[in-house]
Amino acid sequence: MHSFANCIRAVLLSGTPPKQTFSTPQKTIAMVEETLRFDPPLHMFTRYAMQDFSAFGHEFKAGDVVGLMLAGANRDPHKFEDAGNLDAERGGIGNLSFGAGLHFCIGAPLAKLEMVVALPILFAQFPNIKLTEPTIYADRYHFHGLQSLRVNLGVINDG
Ligand code: HEM
Repeated sequence: MHSFANCIRAVLLSGTPPKQTFSTPQKTIAMVEETLRFDPPLHMFTRYAMQDFSAFGHEFKAGDVVGLMLAGANRDPHKFEDAGNLDAERGGIGNLSFGAGLHFCIGAPLAKLEMVVALPILFAQFPNIKLTEPTIYADRYHFHGLQSLRVNLGVINDG
């Protein structure tokens, strides 16, 4: 669920009316990819060095644990211009939020499909949804998500 909460947070903080951001399937897909790049729900995976080797100026020993910083790669300025900025136009293509290579996430299409289907419904139903308090990220090792996401749905209760 971090993928949803992180995306909703980023969209609400962007200042662009969410209904507009998700007004077409193309815009929705672009924003889902971009929020996965901008604020991925898993920010690192690890690997073990099978043998001694050197790479990128580091000397690794067999058995070393290597942290692969997916979130850091998603903000690589050589790959993404103005990487710290949420940019729906860019569409987040090439993000590493689902890993890469042999172990690329087998559930990535399902995870994205859920977001692409559900988020436009949420924002169409509640176009005036707003954050009610600053969000705080949970202090977790593997996952990257919020402690809570408190919103006002913007529904006027006249009953
Ligand atoms: C937003 C949601 C998700 C994110 C961010 C995510 C992220 C990832 C990442 C980064 C990896 C690579 C792990 C590595 O390199 O060691 C991975 C692997 C994997 N994911 Fe996901 N995942 C998500 C949803 C799902 C779903 C919905 C499923 C299943 C329905 C799934 C099943 C798997 C499996 C089986 C692997 C292992 C693939 C392998 O080792 O060959 N994931 N996921």
